[in-house]
Amino acid sequence: MANKTKFQAIKGTRDLLPPETELWNRVEQTAREVFGTFGFGEIRLPIFEPTELFARSIGLDTEIVAKEMYSFPDPFDLGDMYAQYQLLEGRIPGAGQFASVANLLPDSQLIAARPEATASVCRAYIEHGMHALTQPVKLYYMGPMFRRERPQKGRYRQFYQIGAEVLEKEVASGEWRVASEKEAATDAEVIEMVMTFFARLGLEGVQLDINSIGHSEPPVDGENVCRRAYVEKLKAALETVKGRLGEDSKRRIETNPLRVLDSKLESEQEIIAKLPRIGDSLCADCAKQYAEVKRQLDMRGVKYQENWRLVRGLDYYMRTTFEITARGLGSQNAVCGGGRYDGLVELLGGAPTKGIGFAIGEDRLILSLQEAGKGSVVQGRDVYIAWLGEKTLATAIRAARDLRAAGFRVELPPVEQKFGKALGQADKLGARYALILGEDEVASGEWTVKTLADGTQVAVREERLLEFLRGGRVKE
Ligand code: HAM
Repeated sequence: MANKTKFQAIKGTRDLLPPETELWNRVEQTAREVFGTFGFGEIRLPIFEPTELFARSIGLDTEIVAKEMYSFPDPFDLGDMYAQYQLLEGRIPGAGQFASVANLLPDSQLIAARPEATASVCRAYIEHGMHALTQPVKLYYMGPMFRRERPQKGRYRQFYQIGAEVLEKEVASGEWRVASEKEAATDAEVIEMVMTFFARLGLEGVQLDINSIGHSEPPVDGENVCRRAYVEKLKAALETVKGRLGEDSKRRIETNPLRVLDSKLESEQEIIAKLPRIGDSLCADCAKQYAEVKRQLDMRGVKYQENWRLVRGLDYYMRTTFEITARGLGSQNAVCGGGRYDGLVELLGGAPTKGIGFAIGEDRLILSLQEAGKGSVVQGRDVYIAWLGEKTLATAIRAARDLRAAGFRVELPPVEQKFGKALGQADKLGARYALILGEDEVASGEWTVKTLADGTQVAVREERLLEFLRGGRVKE
């Protein structure tokens, strides 16, 4: 008996269908254009990478690495793993124990569906010796990312990002410890680029939040590591209010105290408002850099709001962090996140390198555009060819080929239809013109073109058809 199982997209994943995909294409095309004007080139990256690349970059104590990564053993290495598992457990696992095998293996033997792409860009920068190119190297990417989050509006397990990164090898070793005007200008220009992109799309209710989270390793000097000093201060303050915090925040005091500032829990808001602020702990260099970023944003006419609680959920950030929210997204309203990550390339085995970048959540961007009524797309046709009679088919095929070659969107029904039915079909597809081809038209060479919006009809000779349609502004 045939198996009647109905297949469905896996939870948290979805199909993107026409005509909505037209909007996705428009968004991506606009990104290419805008990023191109800022001197960025496209990088295409693998979907999966070694788990360790993300674990090391994003940080073991982050939600993404600890809970959300789709990390698995490469099935081709399974033979080895079975052997290891048998050694560990003393028996052969069934298919259902595959996950246990993955748990027993170190990250170095696993691969992961990428949860983000900054780590991959840094890996590629090192692997291709991009430090030898003219610096800085400016790259953008777009494509699917994977995180095992609880799906809801604007949050998926397979989602899409459009991101950009600027990487620049340090000229002198240790240079990155010293904040310079140059890097503040780069930060501001990268932010200006996203804002220009959003403005070009007509995104509404855009709000840019910025912050500086100081620097960590390597220390400028033992005393002056502003983030470390701040985290100590924050931890001490959190200990005093521990009893009033929720379970998540309590746990984070030990694992990742900065993330407590991110809490959305209503009961914690008043407590968090009174915690020490990183702005008061920044070392002179970081404070100088932050002030310069703000000045540079002002010079570019980019409006922002300072948000001392903006710490971001990935460990690689230092100094500038930013997030952009947009209207119509409910609780998942961050449409873009980014920041500076000097030192990440070095952490991954490359030369000391500065980095700054962002990633836009494309799903959320599209949702916000749709909510604002900016997402309407008609995937209509320019011309519907209504043909009738076996002898007209060859002419209809030729007409379709010529019109398509000229760039018109053409629908050629595969079998003949009565004209009434064909015109009804043309209407449903949103066609602007119907080209009516019957045996009379083919014999006389005078074709009939009907404008569907007003029902007017004219006779046009074949050789004048393109001219007529262009004159009729069928195609902008
Ligand atoms: P992120 O904040 O983790 O940063 O993600 C950036 C954006 O991706 C978010 O603001 C959101 O719009 C979107 N996003 C994240 N998770 C989901 C999800 N489950 N469903 C839908 N959209 C989501 C990064 O990924 C960094 N790599 C950004 C970066 C680049 N920093 C420097 N360079």
